[in-house]
Amino acid sequence: MKKEERLLRIGVLGCGPIAQFAHFDACRKARNAELYAICDSADDLLARMSAVHEPSKAYGDFDQMLSDPKVEAVIIAVADQYHVSLATRALEARKHVLVEKPLGVTVEECEALRKTVERSGRVLHVGNMKRFDPGIAFAQRFIKQEIGEVLAVKAWYCDSTYRYTMTDNLQPIPVISKSARRPTGDPKADKHQYFMLTHGSHLVDTARFLGGEIESVRARLVEKFGAYCWFVEVRFANGSVGHLDLTIAVRMDFHEGFQVYGERGSVIGKTYLPWFFKSSDVECFSTKDGQYHRPLGEDAHFYKLQVESLADTVLHGKSSEAATAADGVAAMCAMVAIAQSVKQDRTVSLNEVSGGV
Ligand SMILES: NC(=O)c1ccc[n+]([C@@H]2O[C@H](COP(=O)([O-])OP(=O)(O)OC[C@H]3O[C@@H](n4cnc5c(N)ncnc54)[C@H](O)[C@@H]3O)[C@@H](O)[C@H]2O)c1
Repeated sequence: MKKEERLLRIGVLGCGPIAQFAHFDACRKARNAELYAICDSADDLLARMSAVHEPSKAYGDFDQMLSDPKVEAVIIAVADQYHVSLATRALEARKHVLVEKPLGVTVEECEALRKTVERSGRVLHVGNMKRFDPGIAFAQRFIKQEIGEVLAVKAWYCDSTYRYTMTDNLQPIPVISKSARRPTGDPKADKHQYFMLTHGSHLVDTARFLGGEIESVRARLVEKFGAYCWFVEVRFANGSVGHLDLTIAVRMDFHEGFQVYGERGSVIGKTYLPWFFKSSDVECFSTKDGQYHRPLGEDAHFYKLQVESLADTVLHGKSSEAATAADGVAAMCAMVAIAQSVKQDRTVSLNEVSGGV
């Protein structure tokens, strides 16, 4: 792996599954970053991960990692309920932040974090890594530059009932610790909340990335045979219409993708289960040349690409397509609006919502 001369020194908070499957490798493989430190309150996990990834420092306490002046940025890879408080502490310690999606669990705490970011002058990116899927990134640029006004956006995220059969084969066997720190209670017990925060956060971000601001939603939820299907009619701020489909889980392969119809072209995309590290297949048609355009996207380590983008922004002031705190707030509002629309059986505007899903 070719490394640049100046590497962003990153500390990863959390040695749980997502750090093991994505962030440790992402930092080590990134051309412009270094896995400088790792942190977990579970000693056994910290020791095991230190032995494998050989960071310069291993911390059992987050504040100790934050007080290390060599740490320039932190990745917050812990339970959703902890994101806002720990990201706030990192910003107060003058660190740049990549916080896992979703930004938080309520509109208010996300909004407070957005304000803290603004005051801090630090960079905060949200880990919506699909923005760094080369196919999705290509589609987004194509929509912006080629197809003119957007008429309609459809996006779907349908988890597969066979997900774990596939991910068990694709991912390394995770190292688990009995002393891992997690919120009390079972965050997966409330399926409506868990599926929306975990999967809905990806769907809503992709829809916004491709289609722009969401103004209001009208959602319906059907539950049958242990499956949950949200169909969401969307009104975008630019006047286009949208349809989102969040289904957990379909009795077939993982099924994620999008269609965007524009004035001078259209885009169709098929996204793979992320652990294949395979670029989305996108077909981007332009009426200008009467051709379909599609990238290969051979480097599709989305998590590495999002770390590289963070480092480029921090070290060289480059602009990034990463989700910002404002995007995180908007995604939170969209998820809450979808949940409220289901409960209240009406159209809900994003600017009227508060609380959590
Ligand atoms: N972007 C993606 O594709 C993707 C995929 C999976 C999970 N995630 C997100 O990643 C996050 C973490 O997921 P996970 O399954 O790895 O979590 P996890 O809860 O299993 O692991 C988190 C680890 O962090 C440690 N920890 C928590 N708080 C700490 C603290 N204050 N100080 C020190 N250590 C602390 C815990 O001991 C634990 O080992 C979640 O927000 C989840 O939504 C994102």
